[in-house]
Amino acid sequence: MAKFLVQKSAPLQGEVEISGAKNAVLPIMAASLLTEENCVIMDTPALRDVDVMCRLLESLGAEIHDKLEENTVEIETKAITKSEAPFELVKKMRASILVIGPLLARTGKATIPLPGGCAIGKRPIELHLKGLRALGVEIQEDSGQQGPLEAKVDRLVGNDVYLDFPSVGATEVIIMTAVLAEGTTVIENAAQEPEIVDLANFLNKMGARIKGAGTDTVKIEGVEKLHGVSHHIIPDRIEAGTFMLSAVITRGNILIKNILPDHVKAITAKLRECGAEIFMTDEGMVVRGDVNPIISTDIKTLPYPGFPTDLQSPFMALLAVSRGPSVVIETVFENRFMHVAEFNRMGANIKTEGNCAIIPGEKQLQGAQVVATDLRAGAALILTGLVAEGTTEVSDIYHIDRGYEKFVEKFRGLGATIIRIED
Ligand code: EPZ
Repeated sequence: MAKFLVQKSAPLQGEVEISGAKNAVLPIMAASLLTEENCVIMDTPALRDVDVMCRLLESLGAEIHDKLEENTVEIETKAITKSEAPFELVKKMRASILVIGPLLARTGKATIPLPGGCAIGKRPIELHLKGLRALGVEIQEDSGQQGPLEAKVDRLVGNDVYLDFPSVGATEVIIMTAVLAEGTTVIENAAQEPEIVDLANFLNKMGARIKGAGTDTVKIEGVEKLHGVSHHIIPDRIEAGTFMLSAVITRGNILIKNILPDHVKAITAKLRECGAEIFMTDEGMVVRGDVNPIISTDIKTLPYPGFPTDLQSPFMALLAVSRGPSVVIETVFENRFMHVAEFNRMGANIKTEGNCAIIPGEKQLQGAQVVATDLRAGAALILTGLVAEGTTEVSDIYHIDRGYEKFVEKFRGLGATIIRIED
């Protein structure tokens, strides 16, 4: 298995360009199934998850012309030839569940092997199913436990749906199903992530009638048909936050291009509390960790616009070395502290109690052999490797390949010493 070798780095300097958002492009690719016309999606990141989604859509009958080297994917689904998602693809990527909405809207049936939990939590989909049932979908009882999830519907009819938790995936599935339902659907307590706004913008360009995306109440008026469009994906706010942290943890001074400051307000505020200087210029966002002493702050993850759970482990890397103790509370996933054991192998001496982590801070970390336990924890270990004495060897980096495009090249462009070694 491939590994990253990370050396202690001088303060990062220079500029980095953020890629398109993984968590926007995946639902938007699924949504392209809703029309038989051609969709051209641009600024698509060249990631493993995007490749898996391409293969999944092809297995359902889509024609994909992916030019990922040009960050473009063209999708045309004249006819859906299968309404069953293959298990070997679903098990690679939870986001496969997103195709259930378009499959039902186009064919009236869907068979999806349940992706099951993953490292960070059980990740059930009862809210997705609650929304689908509200729109008239029949879900075969106990399906999804023993075998795949079997769903079918004769006529999608709009309805009101309250989400007990503002689930990103459930909000996206309900929107993608309701756009072709008869009548109006209102989602209360909807997720407000920017990726949902990007999905709604894509669907509205296709002829859908969605209002309120990005707020906790989304109203969808069903339409007869949707047409093909071209669309630029928003920048990846989690990748952007990861590079913002890399400048602060190394006491560097970097320019981040292709970033939407409104999408990174929470991370910007917390880094300023730590003493970072952050400001926008015509070219992008300047992040400086070399002006003031870098001190600790507390973090509590929440649904958007709260502090993003996907930046919890990267931010903890900074807190392990910044001045003073801090507390991190993870409220979104029930098991998202696996990186703590890896940080402690490097000398961080972090303690956890339930969804709470206590970080003493001010540690001089030592390079070690560590394992990426999920996509974001892998990124966090690169950050600790940049400031640890000696060399840090990060294995299981296939997680990182899923969500960060050209990660090594981008860090090397900022002066970091990272090499990828293939077994
Ligand atoms: C999306 O996952 C993202 N993935 C995740 O990013 C992100 O961490 C998460 O949203 C939260 O922001 C994609 O967009 C592809 P949720 P999703 O449904 O949709 C519970 C990354 O690193 N829940 O909002 O699966 C669930 O168990 C990934 O890029 C239910 O209980 O997240 C979790 O604890 C990781 N029942 C919480 O809600 C449900 O029916 C958030 O889940 C649905 C969710």
